[in-house]
Amino acid sequence: MSSAQVEFTFDELLAEHEYAEPLFAGGVRCHGGFRDDGAYVSPRTKHRVPAIGAWQAKHVADFGAPILGAPIETWPAAYPNVAQSRFLIEQGVRQPVVSTLTRIGTVEGFGGLIRHSIVPDLQASFVEDTRQTAMAHLLRGLYEAHARDEAGHAESGVDEGGHKQMWFAARDVAFEHPVTEDETLTMLERMGISQPGSGGKIDPAALRAQGLANRLLSDDVPFELEALIERMVRLLFIEIAAFHTFAWAEELLGDDELVAGDGEAARLVSYIRADETPHVDYLRTVLTEMRDRTVVGASGAHHKGVDVVGPLWDRALADSLGPRRTEQLELVVREVGHAVAGRADGGELLEQFHALGTILPRADLNSTQ
Ligand SMILES: [Fe+2]
Ligand SMILES: [Fe+2]
Repeated sequence: MSSAQVEFTFDELLAEHEYAEPLFAGGVRCHGGFRDDGAYVSPRTKHRVPAIGAWQAKHVADFGAPILGAPIETWPAAYPNVAQSRFLIEQGVRQPVVSTLTRIGTVEGFGGLIRHSIVPDLQASFVEDTRQTAMAHLLRGLYEAHARDEAGHAESGVDEGGHKQMWFAARDVAFEHPVTEDETLTMLERMGISQPGSGGKIDPAALRAQGLANRLLSDDVPFELEALIERMVRLLFIEIAAFHTFAWAEELLGDDELVAGDGEAARLVSYIRADETPHVDYLRTVLTEMRDRTVVGASGAHHKGVDVVGPLWDRALADSLGPRRTEQLELVVREVGHAVAGRADGGELLEQFHALGTILPRADLNSTQ
């Protein structure tokens, strides 16, 4: 029997390490900080990281089953790749990369919505004991810490930037405060968070209706539980796939001859990458805890957790690798085409751009129109 702590208070899961120096990104005070030896330490990880390790160990001991996860190789590498992106910047076509960085920061900021997630009564949802688990701590610090990591946080007058502000800072350092467009509306609509034409308004009733219309599981499985699992799986996949984006950004923005800032932008991205690991880890832990338990249906019937989590996992994975991926590729190709459209050598640039990549976009998108 392990004696590791598996019950934590909200405040414990949000507790910070002592930092010798705070992190400033492009002049903005951000989360986390540095130890005496200069090593970066992620925010709110004093107890959160050991807690996740303890819940994982407890699960393996109690259920004899491994913690699930998806290797990063499940997702394709970033598009455009580093060579293509470098080529565009060298040719003075900076807008596609600037827009990509803006979009990443914008989507990170949506992470603040996590704290509004509805979590049903978990003990009523499962046959087995749900105490001393990661799932029991979703509303006791895990979601709030995640929301603050992504979107930043303001408390007692101290504004603290999160990943949203750190990506924007990386962009502004590397490209010396480029002209940017606010991508919030576009991204809210593209991700299905708000309805087109709503002006970015988030309507929980509409989201619920949409979720109900897209239900995958038997009506006997409580809808709130299905929605919770679906959200966590989708979030987990975004978090894992993002490691390709970090590799791309760190290599591209770490090139002193290509971008400004003496490597500062790439360092910021490396800090963001470090902060993401606890996100991936708590999500896969909660999903494992649910997979290996038994769901209590509305009728009182029992459903194996694996038959609840499995289909939602498979559908979200197919979506992430299929339609979502295609949508992203199309967006980039359109944007690159748009960015070179006004140039006399636009057609040639586009040809060279595609020659540097391994992905050939659909023929009808391969134009400067
Ligand atoms: Fe993030
Ligand atoms: Fe994250």
